[in-house]
Order: sequence, then C-alpha cells, then structure tokens
Amino acid sequence: MSNAPQTFDEYVEQMKRTSGPLMDEREWETVIAPNLEEIRQSLERGGGGPDDEAHWALVRKQFTFDHEKGHLNTGTLGASPLYVRRKTVELREVSEREPWHHQGWVHRCEQEAIQKVAALLNAQPGEITFTRNITESMIQVATGLDLRRGDVVVTTNREHGGGRVSWDMAHDWHGVHVENVPIPDVVEDADGLDEATIELFRHTFERYNTPKYAKKKKLLSVSHIFSPLARRMPVKALCALAREYGYLSYVDGAQTVGMIRFDLHDIGCDFYGNSPHKWLLAPKGTGILYARNESIAHLKGMHTKATWKSWKTNNAALSARPFGARGTHDVAACGGIGFAVDFLNLIGGIDRVEARGWGLACRLRDGIERLPGLKFITPNQPKHTPIERRLSGAMTAFVLDGAGNMGEQLRNRYGIDFPASDRWARVSTHYYNTPAQVDRIVQALRAIAGR
Ligand SMILES: Cc1ncc(COP(=O)(O)O)c(C=O)c1O
Repeated sequence: MSNAPQTFDEYVEQMKRTSGPLMDEREWETVIAPNLEEIRQSLERGGGGPDDEAHWALVRKQFTFDHEKGHLNTGTLGASPLYVRRKTVELREVSEREPWHHQGWVHRCEQEAIQKVAALLNAQPGEITFTRNITESMIQVATGLDLRRGDVVVTTNREHGGGRVSWDMAHDWHGVHVENVPIPDVVEDADGLDEATIELFRHTFERYNTPKYAKKKKLLSVSHIFSPLARRMPVKALCALAREYGYLSYVDGAQTVGMIRFDLHDIGCDFYGNSPHKWLLAPKGTGILYARNESIAHLKGMHTKATWKSWKTNNAALSARPFGARGTHDVAACGGIGFAVDFLNLIGGIDRVEARGWGLACRLRDGIERLPGLKFITPNQPKHTPIERRLSGAMTAFVLDGAGNMGEQLRNRYGIDFPASDRWARVSTHYYNTPAQVDRIVQALRAIAGR
C-alpha cells in the first residue's frame, strides 16, 4: 500500500515526521488543543445557548483583545481566534519549506476552504472563488459584466463606499446610469418595512421598463445588511423582482457570513460578495465571490475565468473550476478562510453563533430604547422575532439627539470604543462579546442622555 498522503493534514503530518516540526508546538499543545477539547465537551453537555456564559467564556480564550473592554466593532474588522491564526501560519510554513509545492498541496488546501464555504452558504464549490476583500469581489463583477453606455445599475443611497466604488467608476468611465433608491434613515414602524422597500424598487424598475432600455444590461446591486444602518434587506424578494424585470443581481454581503445563517441558492442572486475578515473572523485581506453557475458566463475576463492552459493540463483540481483563476496569491490566507469555517463549527455552528449575537443585540436595544432623544436606525424588533422575519442581525445603529458629542464622551469618559460620531453610533455584538460589556454601554448612554 502506498504511504502517499491523501489529505492536506496527512501531508503536513508526513512533512513534520520527515523534516521536523513546522513551528513551536507548545502553544498548540498547552493552550489551543486543550481549549478546543473543553469547548467540545461543553457542546457535548448541551452548552452553547445564547445565555450560556460558561460556554462563551471558554470560546473567548481563543481571542487576545482586551476582554474587559471587548471588541465592539466586528462590522469593520473581526478578531481571529488563535486556532485560525495558528493553522494559517502553519500553512504558510508548509509553503516556505517547499515553495514549489505552493502550487500543489497548499492550493489543495485552498480548494478545501472553498468547499467549506460552499457548504456553509449552500453553494456549489465551482460557484465560489476567493479575492482579497469584498471591494475586490465587487470590482471583479463590475469589470466582468463589461457595462457600457446606457446600461443601468439600480442601487441605494446607503451602500458602503466599497460597495459603490465600482458603480461610480462604471458611471464616470463608461456612461452607465446609476440609480440610487433612497432608503429612509430612521424606521418609525418596522411593520410593513420590507413591503415598502420592495415597492420602492418596483417603482424604480418600472421607470427603466421602456423600449429605450429594452436591450440594455441592467443590474441590481444592494447590501444584504447595510453597514451604517445595520438594517437587513429583503434580498430574496428583491432578487426575484430584479429577475422579473430582466436585471441581474449582486448582493453586498460584507456584514453577513459568520453572523447569520443564509442560503445563496435560496436568495437567488446572480452574484454575492463577502469579506470573511469581518464576522467569519478569517485572516485579514480575504474576500469571497459567489457567482451562480448559470451566471458565471456573464463575467468576462482573465480574473474570473480559468484560462491558464498550463494549469489546465497540469492540475486537474484547478482545471475543474470554471472561474476564479487568479495567478499566484496568498493561498495561506485563503486556506485560513476554511479554518475560520472549521472554527465556527467547532464552537457550535452558525445557528448558535447567530442566536448569541442576536441575544446580545436585543439586550442592548432593550437597555437603550427608552432613552430621551434616542431613535433606532436598525429596526428594534423584539427578541422573539422569528429569524426569517428579522430586519437586522447582530449590529445595532441608532442616533442620540441632544446629548452633545456622544462618540467623544463614550471614548474619553467611559473608555468604550465603537464607531460613534456626535449623534450616530453602531455597535457590533458578536459571540465573543458579553452581557457585562453591553450593560456598560447602556449605563454610559443613560448617563450621556441625562438619565
Ligand atoms: C456593506 C459593506 N460593503 C463593503 C465593505 C468594504 O469591505 P472591505 O474593505 O473588506 O472590502 C464594507 C466594510 O465595512 C461594508 O460594510
């Protein structure tokens, strides 16, 4: 029988046996592995519920930020667990020991990461490729679509800069119409919000539903969860509506993977982007791009279609992939996306993580809802709202009027740090945050609001 390794893990083990340890094993043996074992045992005992502080305290041992203050801005950048950091560095060490195999075994590890992401999001592996961030994912879609003068992009006035730069360029360079659907700032009444939003888009699609635009390319580009509003959009309904009017659809999912459960095939979009260095807690500088099988053909260009002949003939795994040829890149970071999915599963899976983040967000919203001058930007839904009806996730945005410079006071007087200006603020509550951190924010805001 051949001793040839069958998996990447076996390959790493063989490498360690033949040429010595890849890195100092002490941290793994004394910290990471025992902690993974206690997390496993906690799950075996039925742990991991949203209020199971003992479970989440075990998970928090994987993070090296200040645990008292907590990291309250995962919406900008997540903190990677030790497990992910360690496994990613190990991958990098493999690559350094046998650089030539960079194109072989290490790439295979990236392929495994693609499979893990596909399984998490219900896509096929051939529909997923990696980039350096969602901004890049989106630029690939924008350039791949080859938009021309008179083509139409319907988006909103609330997209993140990284989520609209491509359309601004398409407008400035190629004369593409960019239509911004206006999304209201503050939601007074969450009932009927989705229906009203869908009507806004229908109205815009109707305006372009004329003979002049019949032969033009049309695209809907919308956030799944808006960054500054922290509001979740009815993307499934919007993508269906887009299809009805002959539009392709791109969803900016920077704020979703690793925060909420969703299913790409169910959403029905043509393209979806994500930055897993946010809520999935993958290595920094990583991005995901999904293109539905039937929609890949719409993307033209070197960066989205595998055309490297030598790769085709030399590497069966790569030639099987219909899109995503990128040339030499940081495969260790991409492998790290797979380790981040592994870690998500090791601590209890996306459903537990979603419930934990939602529970903390509700605790914050309950604590501040009656403050004078406070208005929610994120719809303040009660805790028992079923997942499929939720209008937000684990981020909460609000304005506080009449209280002076809120952001400065939070930072300087109370030592609490999350994106906050004079009157606007956004708090990210991921599973590694605690009720105590949330309560501290509530107390500080009460004092700032004058209660
Ligand atoms: C909705 C949205 N889109 C795009 C981006 C850009 O992300 P990145 O810098 O990782 O490309 C962000 C970043 O916060 C975001 O929130």
